[in-house]
Amino acid sequence: MKILVVGKGGREHAIVWKLAQSDKVDKIYAAPGNVGMAEQAEIVPIEAEDLDGLANFAEKNKIDLTVVGPELPLTLGIVDIFESKGLRIFGPNKEAAEIEGSKAFAKVFMQKHHIPTARFKVFESHFEALDFVRTAGFPLVIKADGLAAGKGAVIVNNPDEAKATVENIMVERVFGEAGSRLVVEDFLVGEEVTVMAFTDGERVAPMISAQDHKRIGDGNTGPNTGGMGAYAPTNIVTESLMKQITEEILEPTINGLAAMGRIYTGVLYTGLIITDRGPKVLEYNCRFGDPETQVVLPLLESDLVEIFSDIIEGYLDINGIKWREAFSACVVLASRGYPASSEKGVPIEGLENCKSDSCVVFHAGTARKDDKYVTAGGRVIGVTAVNTTMKGALVRVYEGVDKIAFDGMQFRRDIGRRAGSVSTNYL
Ligand SMILES: Nc1ncnc2c1ncn2[C@@H]1O[C@H](COP(=O)(O)OP(=O)(O)O)[C@@H](O)[C@H]1O
Ligand SMILES: [Mg+2]
Repeated sequence: MKILVVGKGGREHAIVWKLAQSDKVDKIYAAPGNVGMAEQAEIVPIEAEDLDGLANFAEKNKIDLTVVGPELPLTLGIVDIFESKGLRIFGPNKEAAEIEGSKAFAKVFMQKHHIPTARFKVFESHFEALDFVRTAGFPLVIKADGLAAGKGAVIVNNPDEAKATVENIMVERVFGEAGSRLVVEDFLVGEEVTVMAFTDGERVAPMISAQDHKRIGDGNTGPNTGGMGAYAPTNIVTESLMKQITEEILEPTINGLAAMGRIYTGVLYTGLIITDRGPKVLEYNCRFGDPETQVVLPLLESDLVEIFSDIIEGYLDINGIKWREAFSACVVLASRGYPASSEKGVPIEGLENCKSDSCVVFHAGTARKDDKYVTAGGRVIGVTAVNTTMKGALVRVYEGVDKIAFDGMQFRRDIGRRAGSVSTNYL
């Protein structure tokens, strides 16, 4: 098979890396890809949002399967375009992808289908939103309705912060059209975890759980980022909790969407908070998460090409998906200034020393200059290690991290040690 992977981050590198292990694969293309993928894939200079360009490429090169990493092309309808041309593509169509594309749609959908989530209100007028937050209880969470590159959700602690946030999003339109509607919801307390699932629109196979580390600094301090590291599986999501999440959240979501005529196929991502009243959905994503994918796919024993193909054919064998009895951890190395800004063109040392059986390097923001790898973005590299124990995975991953260096390199030292998330006997 010839496969095209759309996207250019660590998530897509992990997808390419896993696909390359399948004996069903003859050739992988990545568009626009990154230089780190060059070992497994041919890099094609077409941007992820250039839907027609991608479809033309797939047609011309007789691509057997296209896999979409990021949300934007999915919410723009890349799957609809490919399918209209008879091209096989993995991911939800435009209507199904709206569960990520519009937070208001997702919240109303959850309410209608009794899927546990925070209490909320949707506002289309900033006057009404301001009126509401003046007298509301705090903390509250205010979210722009549309895609905002992970920056559209703000936790506010008092009426002044709430007012400023409503005005930024709805009046100043700092996230553009994404701010034409607002969701205001209760602040939930509990551990945050990710559960992704493979689904063919009817059957749902949850993947192992993972936990991201969103803040830039150790101990969950400083601003939010795209994710500074992750580990999987978590011991927060026990077998019985996974069953509950599957029955109360994942299956009703897929069934509810199907009942609306929006058959959802692909990867369904749920961001959850495990409250003392059970798991609640923070948000849906319509694709693999990043960095969670960098820890989840290395633990997948089954052939990913087979899973993608089965889903496209409409029959996912949910009992056929096997996971390794092991643990994995990923540490993200970021540029100086991230998340506010990022330095580019800084030489990266030691990447070649990090190649071993126990460590794998996924590129995110890298480039080649004078035959050397240099930084080219905020999140530069993800280092992932797999081991038979969580402690082993964490030791190995930091051994790997310590071999890599670039000026201004930032990373968290406490991945997998988040308070309460890892019991002492786990480590
Ligand atoms: N209701 C909530 N209660 C507590 N924290 C929340 C709530 N909603 C969002 N958050 C926090 O804000 C982050 C971003 O919110 P999310 O809905 O995932 O939006 P996005 O990823 O699109 O920015 C979450 O990962 C979580 O840490
Ligand atoms: Mg999120």
